[in-house]
Amino acid sequence: MSAVELASPVSCAAPSYKAVSWPCRPAPGAGDAPRGPDTPGYVSGVGFYGEHVLPRLVDRACGAAGMSEWRAGVTSGLRGRVIEIGFGSGLNVAHYPPTVEVVLAVEPAEVARRLAGRRIAASSIPVEHVGLDGQSIPLEDASCDGALSTFSLCTIPDARVALSELRRVVRPGAAFHFLEHGLAEDPAVAGWQRRLDPWHCRMAGGCHLTRDIPTLVSDAGFVMDRVEQRYAKGPRPWSWFTMGIAINPA
Ligand SMILES: C[S@@+](CC[C@H](N)C(=O)[O-])C[C@H]1O[C@@H](n2cnc3c(N)ncnc32)[C@H](O)[C@@H]1O
Repeated sequence: MSAVELASPVSCAAPSYKAVSWPCRPAPGAGDAPRGPDTPGYVSGVGFYGEHVLPRLVDRACGAAGMSEWRAGVTSGLRGRVIEIGFGSGLNVAHYPPTVEVVLAVEPAEVARRLAGRRIAASSIPVEHVGLDGQSIPLEDASCDGALSTFSLCTIPDARVALSELRRVVRPGAAFHFLEHGLAEDPAVAGWQRRLDPWHCRMAGGCHLTRDIPTLVSDAGFVMDRVEQRYAKGPRPWSWFTMGIAINPA
């Protein structure tokens, strides 16, 4: 896969919740436990910017032409009933392969769900919004044949809980496909990510720069089948990408 363009530093910021509270804190390590209003960096009530401006910025940035190649790569091989957490504005919809029978979308942001409407309407693969929170997925155990997350494990408040929910709802042997930005291997870049994270998180709807994606996925009990990490085009703290497939063991 060739290098592709990461559109802007806001590129994987999250569309907001209505009246959202974002758990932002400095240097959050491999995962982030939910935080309360007394936690330093906790931001609540993001208002017009969070509810209306940010979702559209994210839709534009994450929908940049350079992202298509990554999205086509990460969706390749998915089949059957696929759960997608952090579905956002549906930017993966055009890339699902025909082997996908239905996509079960989990997405809390109302504006993002609305923006997804025209992409879903144009797709031959049905998409059903089934839930609002990847940390609590309203689906039966082992009811999905595959799972997808793109640029969402950075934002879901407790990525560990979301990954454990994914393991619960996918059948044994099913593949979890993921494409995420996260903590860079290069210590100098990682240092900048830690310094920038509190500010980025506040501006970008709870999105963290410092999550160690392969560690999170492995710690959840998935078995890594393949993983590729490299910089996309763009400022390095935002552009260390991990694309991988991990299997839910029997
Ligand atoms: C940066 S956006 C990525 C959207 C989309 N996956 C993409 O690749 O364009 C992160 C998404 O995670 C969603 N999100 C935030 N918290 C979530 C949660 N608890 N459960 C599921 N999705 C969540 C946000 O609303 C947002 O749509």
